[in-house]
Amino acid sequence: MYEKIFNKYSPEKENLIYILHDIQDANPQNFISEDAVQKVSEYLKISISHIYGVLTFYSMYSTKPRGKNVIRLCEAPPCFLKGSERILKNLCKILNVKVGGTTSDGLFTVELCACLGICGNAPVMMINEDVYGDLTDEKVEKIITEIKGRA
Ligand code: FES
Repeated sequence: MYEKIFNKYSPEKENLIYILHDIQDANPQNFISEDAVQKVSEYLKISISHIYGVLTFYSMYSTKPRGKNVIRLCEAPPCFLKGSERILKNLCKILNVKVGGTTSDGLFTVELCACLGICGNAPVMMINEDVYGDLTDEKVEKIITEIKGRA
């Protein structure tokens, strides 16, 4: 898997975030393993600590296994004022997980994130690459049901 991804990018430091992104996407558990960090370090000839620095700086990366669908609910003030806390509580209830946790079927991980840039549609969440705004409890339940139906 690594070779296929490395073949897409020349071994330059500037490609680090793209390579990490592709590696995470290719992992069914949505995270970047120690082994992956080692391989990237060798390929780009940069230190492991530098890579971990990048991994911890960007919240989109994870070094722990996650669900197939990563739900990131915005917790910034505009979304908070529009009820994101209630949305989160209901979301965790219907999935039976805590924030940061993964459902027992491995389908969903729930995380919080900073502003997703569409505050006019608050409250907002992202599931993998898709953004959902103007959330209500009903809308969230419908989205979750649809994704479960596709699994
Ligand atoms: S504050 Fe939530 S999307 Fe901007």
